[in-house]
Amino acid sequence: MSQSITLSRAARLVGVTRGELQKKIRDGTLPSFDGSVTLDDLLASYPDAQLEDNTEYSRVTRIKERAFGKRVFERAMPDVEVLAARITEISRELSHSRTRTTHFNILLERLRGKLDEIEQQCNAEDKTIMSDLKSWLNKEITAAIEPDYLNPLAVRDDLLRVMSAHVTLQPSGHDFFVDGNDTLLEAALRAGVPLNYGCSGGNCGLCKARVVSGQVKKIRHHDYVIPDAEKAQGYALMCSNTAVTDVEIEAPVAGGVQDIPFQQIAAKVKSVELLTPDIALLHLQTPRTSRLRFLAGQSLTLRLGDSLSAELPIASCPCDDRNLLFHVRRMPGNLFADYLFNRLRKNETVDIEGPQGEFILQEKTARPLCFIAFDTGFAPIKSLIEHAMSLDAAEAIRLYWIGSDEDSLYLRNVGRAWADALDNFHFTPIVTGYNLRTLADKRAEVLQGTLRTIVEDNPQITAGDIYIAGPEAASTVAEQFFLSLGLPKTRVFSSNPG
Ligand code: FES
Repeated sequence: MSQSITLSRAARLVGVTRGELQKKIRDGTLPSFDGSVTLDDLLASYPDAQLEDNTEYSRVTRIKERAFGKRVFERAMPDVEVLAARITEISRELSHSRTRTTHFNILLERLRGKLDEIEQQCNAEDKTIMSDLKSWLNKEITAAIEPDYLNPLAVRDDLLRVMSAHVTLQPSGHDFFVDGNDTLLEAALRAGVPLNYGCSGGNCGLCKARVVSGQVKKIRHHDYVIPDAEKAQGYALMCSNTAVTDVEIEAPVAGGVQDIPFQQIAAKVKSVELLTPDIALLHLQTPRTSRLRFLAGQSLTLRLGDSLSAELPIASCPCDDRNLLFHVRRMPGNLFADYLFNRLRKNETVDIEGPQGEFILQEKTARPLCFIAFDTGFAPIKSLIEHAMSLDAAEAIRLYWIGSDEDSLYLRNVGRAWADALDNFHFTPIVTGYNLRTLADKRAEVLQGTLRTIVEDNPQITAGDIYIAGPEAASTVAEQFFLSLGLPKTRVFSSNPG
């Protein structure tokens, strides 16, 4: 009998998204029971998955390096003590299994002896029955042992258990893996799970949660004191502990924008990079002790001193640690942008307030996702896509980035890198040659024609969710276009960040 594993673990083992596995289950090409699949069925669906090809690690590396940038790729081996504890746990299980196997072997030998004994006392007809029974037993035993022994995925699964631990959250049902030296909070945020937290530095106690089963270990200092009575019930801080074994944790997660508090944080400029003469990439970093809680797709108010401010969509996702990215366009008369392009320097303080906005991912769906970004509307779309990728649940993701001109597709390489790294990601850049901010004359009709061609080429996008962001003129045309196709408002989402 082959071992059963969860869909998340199965996706990791063969290096595909959970969405892809769910699609196979729906198609009937991958049997599943109670949300789990067997290693044999998984290997039958992915016969090329071998231990040596290390699919998962190379996939993660590719995504992290190309899509998120190397600064996020700070993965290390787990803490030595955590590693030792995991190996000890697996050794304990191995020893337990060995003992059971020895007992079963003894039992089998006794059974065979017993059958031989009975056979000797049988008449000719019963001897034939006994002989059939013995060959059936031998065949079944061989069949039960062989597949698992040969299945390379079982070996890789054990390796995965040493390198990472699986976490399930109750009551939300979210799950994620803790890799390297990450705390439970860091791992949750990387996986796009909006766990409840405050300071992220062990001071406020807002990340306190109850460990229902499994073992956690403190790897970061915390000043917050958990009362002994709560400790005895299994409470621990998610920002200070990592998972040693697979764990189940009772912890609240943000269900929507209403669960994210208003925050004011003094962030520092890490860099200002000119992507084109008129578009800059602003990289801010929040202090270690107060990272920003937000949902992908939301915006922030940025203040420079008392007089300059701007509301900008965040172009990074909550999975990107303390880093906050913004795409800023130089516009005539925009003093904030003028200051940013001409005077803002590394380490200068930018006060941030928020987050605002409800342009967020509808996480509960496994439908295909289609993102349409117009010009700098790519910023919130990028945040949503990174979040969708960290959730690893979408069956397929399509990105259409429609720019007024070549310069308006200022990070085209990011879209290409996503398409290279992920099998289920498709990227189409389109240059219109006219200004998407004004859509003068008959431009709205021309834009509708472009959208119509997109849908004709890929009619399946109308079966999924559509996210649109960009200047109001273009976003409104796109939103109306998709609604006119009969898509319900609950599947077309639009934002006009300017
Ligand atoms: S987030 Fe403040 S103590 Fe963990």
